[in-house]
Amino acid sequence: MKLLVINGPNLNMLGIREPELYGKKDFAALERYIRDVCAAEGMECELFQSNHEGAIVDIIQSALGRFDGIVINPAAYTHTSVAILDALRAVALPAVEVHLTDISAREPFRRVSYAGMACERTIAGRGFEGYREAIRYLAEKYNETEPKGGTER
Ligand code: DQA
Repeated sequence: MKLLVINGPNLNMLGIREPELYGKKDFAALERYIRDVCAAEGMECELFQSNHEGAIVDIIQSALGRFDGIVINPAAYTHTSVAILDALRAVALPAVEVHLTDISAREPFRRVSYAGMACERTIAGRGFEGYREAIRYLAEKYNETEPKGGTER
């Protein structure tokens, strides 16, 4: 299974950015964590981070035919981007939305998630661990649906 993991704007500032909310570990630590989880699950993964909405739309579009699932933390674009929602719907790959913080318990404007409308699950408020849960969910789903071997006839 090949997984695309997308992180949106300002997540590259982890460790510096509002540590009381997002923690003291930096973005490199998050990327290492995601790679380790994927390796433990026997998955190939590609990691992508951008501060630009169009770049995120482009990488989602390019996932078609190349990846079996998407984990996405669209960060602030969660609450604003119909373009990211439409891109996720366009490729129709199994996708899970992750947020480090509990967006339902913060400012009211964070309660709406456009990207989440195209995702099978939303995992929020679990820190780095949320990525593990998302990856495991997609791995299990893939293992259940993928034909095994094809020798039975
Ligand atoms: C976030 C939550 C968003 O509301 C915020 O804009 C972020 C990070 C999270 O991971 O908790 O940048 O997606």
